[in-house]
Amino acid sequence: MVQEVFLSIAYERSMFGGAVPVRYDERLMARYLITGVAGFIGSALAREVLAQGDQVRSLDNFSTGKRENISEIFSQIDFREGDLLGSGLVHDACRGVDYILHEAAIASVPRSVKDPLASHRANLDATVDLLIAARDAKVKRVVYAASSSAYGDTPTLPKHEDMTPNPISPYAVAKLASEYYMTSFYRCYGLETVCLRYFNIFGPRQDPDSPYSGVLAKFITQMLRGEQPTIFGDGTQSRDFTYVDNAVQANLLACKAPASEVAGRVFNIGVGQRVDLNETFRLLQKIIGYNGEVKYAPERAGDVKHSLAELTRAKRHLGYTPKIYFEEGLRRTVEWYRSVDSRPDNLGTQFSNPRAPNVDA
Ligand code: NAD
Ligand code: UD1
Repeated sequence: MVQEVFLSIAYERSMFGGAVPVRYDERLMARYLITGVAGFIGSALAREVLAQGDQVRSLDNFSTGKRENISEIFSQIDFREGDLLGSGLVHDACRGVDYILHEAAIASVPRSVKDPLASHRANLDATVDLLIAARDAKVKRVVYAASSSAYGDTPTLPKHEDMTPNPISPYAVAKLASEYYMTSFYRCYGLETVCLRYFNIFGPRQDPDSPYSGVLAKFITQMLRGEQPTIFGDGTQSRDFTYVDNAVQANLLACKAPASEVAGRVFNIGVGQRVDLNETFRLLQKIIGYNGEVKYAPERAGDVKHSLAELTRAKRHLGYTPKIYFEEGLRRTVEWYRSVDSRPDNLGTQFSNPRAPNVDA
């Protein structure tokens, strides 16, 4: 649909302008490579990039991503199934690309505590592989899904980018080391990179059914199903929960901001408000109409106690301001989970599209 619109514009111009016909995509559309497109944030980015009239190429190995997250856009994207690391796909995927939005990762703190080597490979080795391919392909800019977990348990709140990082979990170490690689590729090779330190992103399509799922996706679906959620610890830990549209906005701004403002730099992306888990549970009780109680279990290893973003740098240099705040985001997310049948046995059944056309064609 989007491509048809651009095709017709290109046709009219060549008819009446008398110019040599130019391929519509080369003149009018930017090409984005989105890694981890079948994931929660990657699929939201893909929908928005398509909506702004640009092209999406993408890579995913479905390790945590889901086919149904991209089923409705599958025919509009150049999707390549495979691992970023060691599959040989990544160099070809970077060819002709303007911007890379690097989302692919094993995005779980407890999973990294359980299997640090898998976390290291997916979250760090794969990033270095991608950076080499991006450098060789002369990609304009790489925007990286960094993590606020890099701050660890530093007592200062809010967290600002000039603070010394203090990662606790293997996941946080790999995400922070990936940031350093991003910056070093800018300094050593001139590849423009921008790191966005996301603060607990939530919203539609976040996987609720893995033991490693984000707390809000889990709580909402459990409470909608009438099941009892569990708080690890005493529930006083707090997060700057950030609705996914804000992260999408930040990525698009990061691609377009002047290099002098953003290249080689790190930016917090959050909302600038924090809420603890006990309060979050009570709010969800109200929104969902859940009458049950929460149960408590021991605190998780590697868990950060409090998290809150200082946003001055992102506001000044990216032009970022959060558009959707916590409670509104929570309501939208509850509505979304309500509107789909979120039982695990029904997930994945919508996906039937065989293979999307290659955008190079
Ligand atoms: P997600 O698990 O929904 O998405 C990750 C995607 O990457 C999945 O589709 C998975 O299949 C794919 N993937 C993983 N390893 C891969 C590999 N080696 N090759 C190809 N594909 C691979 O996670 P998400 O919540 O959408 O997170 C996206 C990114 O944002 C991650 O880099 C994560 O570390 C970062 N991040 C997320 C949050 C959050 O709160 N969700 C906060 C900070 C940073
Ligand atoms: C999350 C992201 C991570 C990101 C980081 C920083 C996920 C799965 N993790 O980690 O990718 O880099 O934010 O932005 O998206 N909890 C419960 N009960 C549950 C599940 C969790 O009490 O059933 C607690 C946890 O112990 C933790 C808090 O909720 O204190 C948040 O946990 P979680 O959603 O897994 O996110 P983070 O570990 O903060």
